[in-house]
Amino acid sequence: MPTLFDQLTLRDVTVRNRIWTSPMCQYSVLDHSGIPQQWHLVHLGSFAVGGSGLVFSEATAVSPEARISPRDTGIWTDEQRDAWKPIVAFVASQGAVPGIQLGHAGRKASTWPAWGFEDRTGSVPIEEGGWSTVAPSAIPFGDDDEPNELDLAGIDKIVGDFRAAARRSVDAGFRVIELHAAHGYLLHQFLSPIANHRSDEYGGSLENRARLMLRVVEEVRAEVGDGVPLFIRFSASDWTPGGWDEQQTATVAGWAEEAGADFFDISSGGIQSGIRVPLEPGYQVPFAAHVRSSAEVEVSAVGLITTPQQASAIVERGKADAVMLAREALRDPHFTLRAAHELGVDLDYWPAQYLRARWH
Ligand SMILES: Cc1cc2nc3c(=O)[nH]c(=O)nc-3n(C[C@H](O)[C@H](O)[C@H](O)COP(=O)(O)O)c2cc1C
Repeated sequence: MPTLFDQLTLRDVTVRNRIWTSPMCQYSVLDHSGIPQQWHLVHLGSFAVGGSGLVFSEATAVSPEARISPRDTGIWTDEQRDAWKPIVAFVASQGAVPGIQLGHAGRKASTWPAWGFEDRTGSVPIEEGGWSTVAPSAIPFGDDDEPNELDLAGIDKIVGDFRAAARRSVDAGFRVIELHAAHGYLLHQFLSPIANHRSDEYGGSLENRARLMLRVVEEVRAEVGDGVPLFIRFSASDWTPGGWDEQQTATVAGWAEEAGADFFDISSGGIQSGIRVPLEPGYQVPFAAHVRSSAEVEVSAVGLITTPQQASAIVERGKADAVMLAREALRDPHFTLRAAHELGVDLDYWPAQYLRARWH
């Protein structure tokens, strides 16, 4: 088994270790433009300085209506692409691989940013910068507005939006692309029987529910060529009877690999409000291990992974090929350097400016 600090090569990309930075929305676009700001440079740059192998952007929208909130970043214009370039270049300059998570929020779009609007609930009204949402079926999420059911032309447009966003991502310098098919957003909404009540070729059977995601995988692969690793983030469980589960995840991961995907980032939850998730350290690791062994694919584990020892055990025991950190990375953007220090591993990618912290 590899260790936490072994490299991992996927297609044309070699990642320096297996401690990666999970996508994290920042709600820091100030003018509803989708254009990343200096905040995103410092935020993402700090993880690269701190030794992370692969630094993912927040869920970045493939179209204006794909945003979770009006303050999300996007990559549907050339101006947004160009604003990503210096951020991506800085991450790469520190030896980390810059990755972008491409998303469409579907029925969970047009919501209030997670901070600054604590007194507001439901959807953002159109007159305050919101928009009407789309979904596989006209079933709202919680107390959000009812979404419009997508017709076939609308589905084709979404496939095209992902493809165009993938092109701009590569042109901005991102070296890994992740499709966000988790946490109750649009691709997950199609996969899960909870949100997808369609009776056409995009609903019903597992093949039909997976059709949109597989089309996106094929189109993105055709657009970016053979060198770029393509990840998919799945929610491996809806944590509710009759929902999406780990076995469907494993089956569809196998199909997605045949369609051109390379790596599976295994999370859970988010399809519906009010579902209790039994949180404990590493609570999603068994899902990652299941998908890894059942589909024989490479996976990462995420969720309450907070110590170097815990992260190390996940990789060394073959539960996952890498770990992703979110909240612990916010507490300590230099987690990877600290982990190497604590575990007595000598890294050759300490920033020269920080070398005095290497040993003592
Ligand atoms: C501030 C914040 C923003 C997040 N935004 C995203 C996101 O854009 N895309 C995503 O897939 N997950 C997002 N997540 C979920 C994390 O990527 C991660 O899966 C989750 O927090 C569990 O990992 P942790 O216990 O290390 O925080 C977010 C989490 C946090 C804390």
